[in-house]
Amino acid sequence: MSYHAIAIDGPAGAGKSTIAKLLAKKLNYTYIDTGAMYRATTYKALNLGVDLIDPESFSFLNITDFVFKNGELYMDGTNMTKLNRSKEVADNVSLVASHIPVRNKLVSLQQEIAENNHVVMDGRDIGTVVLTHAQLKVFLTASVKVRAKRRYEELKNAGRIITLEDIEKDIERRDKYDSTRSYNPLRKAQDAIEIDTSDKDIREVVDLLYKKYIKIVNEG
Ligand code: DC
Repeated sequence: MSYHAIAIDGPAGAGKSTIAKLLAKKLNYTYIDTGAMYRATTYKALNLGVDLIDPESFSFLNITDFVFKNGELYMDGTNMTKLNRSKEVADNVSLVASHIPVRNKLVSLQQEIAENNHVVMDGRDIGTVVLTHAQLKVFLTASVKVRAKRRYEELKNAGRIITLEDIEKDIERRDKYDSTRSYNPLRKAQDAIEIDTSDKDIREVVDLLYKKYIKIVNEG
């Protein structure tokens, strides 16, 4: 595989998307939010009314078109940014993302994107499965409290009414599901650098990663 890539993994709310977006902008790379692909798949499955428990229900992925434009995902031509944030999608996405055929299909699409673009890609299995040759691998963490507060602000700004307590519960539930699923769970790649963003300024983290990446690329 030959690509120029930064892989960013970690649990929900660790700052992955904010950091990945800023880093991509600084490098003039394409930002790929793989969580959006799992969410959009969940959205389509819910709309089609297929059985979410059955791993064989997702053959529609073979005729589904995913395109990223300016960091936003378009599925079959529709911008998924708002649709992907519904409660129904959040409640079911971990289940959908646990299915082997779903993961295999989305991972191969993600690898294809990285073959054709310089990318900063974020998710749960980017350093361990999708881009195992990424020049820089990062594993971001933060306390549950800090992560819940961040997601609360994000959803509030998007006009959603939800309590901090409910978000904390949802984060804990999804953490557990994502890191204990048997196929490609959330875990840190051996060669990833781990950063706890709880008390860090996001821009500081972006600067640090940018410098690290430039150094790695220059040293060839
Ligand atoms: O990053 P996010 O919260 O939008 O991700 C939504 C869900 O998708 C999350 O519960 C875990 C799953 N996911 C995954 O299993 N693998 C990825 N590479 C990205 C997301």
